[in-house]
Amino acid sequence: MSERERTFVMVKPDGVQRGLTGEIISRFEDRGLKLVGAKFMQIDQDLAEEHYGEHEGKPFFDGLVEFITSGPVMAMVWEGDDAIRQVRHMMGETDPAESAPGTIRGDFGLDLGRNVIHGSDHEDPGSNEREIDLFFDEDELVDYEKVDEGWLY
Ligand code: TYD
Ligand code: MG
Repeated sequence: MSERERTFVMVKPDGVQRGLTGEIISRFEDRGLKLVGAKFMQIDQDLAEEHYGEHEGKPFFDGLVEFITSGPVMAMVWEGDDAIRQVRHMMGETDPAESAPGTIRGDFGLDLGRNVIHGSDHEDPGSNEREIDLFFDEDELVDYEKVDEGWLY
């Protein structure tokens, strides 16, 4: 039995500007994941640098920070069995060109910098908790029972 997890997901500025927020939320709903938090917001420089801290010093870091602060994002927390890996699987690869059709980046991503969506990394244990804490206060995450819990599963 896989573990119940929460993962941090964000529709990036390109996804918001292109009107893909609803489509992306629909995909996670269709997959049976449970939305426990959502915030439509503008990321400032400090938050961007902290969120992408692991990439500091890399050649794409400044451009990445500039891009992620260039317009509003939809920050979300999704919950489900093996949710971190499930979301990454649905996202595709970092580079849209390497992403299979049917994945979010494979269907909508334009290039490595403009890849529509962020999701916590299943190969970086604890990144989900760290990112959720960075973007959400405890009381902004909603505890509730989804109808299919305890019935479907
Ligand atoms: P990374 O954490 O490696 O990818 P992912 O988003 O799949 O977890 O990188 C963070 C973001 O940085 C990535 O979504 C796009 C951008 N990026 C570049 O612009 N150039 C690059 O060479 C890499 C590796 C990432
Ligand atoms: Mg990453």
